[in-house]
Amino acid sequence: MSTQRLWLRCEKKEFERRTAITPTTAKKLIDAGFEISVERDSQRIFKDEEYEAAGCTLVEHNSWPSAPVDVPIIGLKELPVSEDPLPHTHIQFAHCYKQQGGWSKVLARFHKGHGTLYDLEFLTDDQGRRVAAFGYHAGFAGSAAGALALAAERAGKPLGQLEPFENEDAMVEGVRQALGGSAKGLKVIVIGALGRCGRGAVDLFRKVGVEEDDIMKWDMAETAKGGPFPEILEADIFVNCIYLATPIPPFMTHEQVKVAGKERRLRVVVDVSCDTTNPHNPIPIYSVNTTFAKPTVPVEVGCGNPPLAMVSIDHLPTLLPREASEQFSTNLLPSLLELPQRESARVWVEAEKLFKTKLSEAVAVEGL
Ligand SMILES: NC(=O)c1ccc[n+]([C@@H]2O[C@H](COP(=O)([O-])OP(=O)(O)OC[C@H]3O[C@@H](n4cnc5c(N)ncnc54)[C@H](O)[C@@H]3O)[C@@H](O)[C@H]2O)c1
Repeated sequence: MSTQRLWLRCEKKEFERRTAITPTTAKKLIDAGFEISVERDSQRIFKDEEYEAAGCTLVEHNSWPSAPVDVPIIGLKELPVSEDPLPHTHIQFAHCYKQQGGWSKVLARFHKGHGTLYDLEFLTDDQGRRVAAFGYHAGFAGSAAGALALAAERAGKPLGQLEPFENEDAMVEGVRQALGGSAKGLKVIVIGALGRCGRGAVDLFRKVGVEEDDIMKWDMAETAKGGPFPEILEADIFVNCIYLATPIPPFMTHEQVKVAGKERRLRVVVDVSCDTTNPHNPIPIYSVNTTFAKPTVPVEVGCGNPPLAMVSIDHLPTLLPREASEQFSTNLLPSLLELPQRESARVWVEAEKLFKTKLSEAVAVEGL
């Protein structure tokens, strides 16, 4: 059998420093007989030399369109908008299977080029669970952003621009310092605490020193009675990490915030789930996603009441590009090792089936 080749492309999405293949994963693939080409990319958190040291071949930045068509191209985020046909197999998050804006045009490119898309969001194991996801670090970084917003509020100013941290320790230290050396005395609530994001959110609070009894960890059992919940207003920070699958009553409301008046302890809400535009958003107190440049928006709280800041950034793991990539890539590795058998390996067969279904929907919509 011929050697399996794989081509790691650069990322073109602004601020995206993460990658689907880290030097550690690349080395493991090479040890298993893969040949890996890596596009030079100064945006990526891992240095080109780290890939070279792992045995990869460095190739020119953004040169994948001229790669041999039988070499799968792996990247993380969507490609820049274009109408160019895509003849290769692409492994990436393409955000075009849930009828997102422009979805059929993205798929039309594969139709025109006879290429294939394996969308990373839809690679699942035999239990239907995603093989790799970024949730843990989204929650971890979300709690950090929330704690930094609280520290800024205590200092009487809004939180300034957030930059990616070199690693988890640097983030934990940065949060501790912002809080004046310790997070002791802080009271927080995480809803969806048993999920990927929720576990990360709880871990950040533990690492910065919030006492275990002061971290309210709620999941399905605690919210079963239905909101709104007064307990949320009794914490300093509320981090929402639920996976919203069906409509539920809101966890908190504007009305509740106004009625609490000056008695409210809550100062920061972080919506990691970011169901911002969903009509059933369980935190209907805001309507925009915030950004690294401007991480918070003020919530309308009623005249004379203490402020309430909202964080709703939808790409939080980017704040921890190294660890987030390392974990994602490690989880993806077993599936990548099955790439040479992708005609029969369940994970790839299922992903291709889904691609073909979505492709035919797009072809109908585009009238191709
Ligand atoms: N903001 C970001 O950057 C970012 C990054 C990754 C994921 N996300 C989003 O975060 C959300 C959670 O993702 P995940 O991977 O952690 O999901 P997950 O399935 O691992 O966990 C979700 C948790 O929410 C709980 N839950 C669901 N409904 C609930 C309810 N009504 N009350 C209490 N708990 C409830 C579940 O029991 C589960 O424990 C998703 O919407 C995902 O898209 C956001």
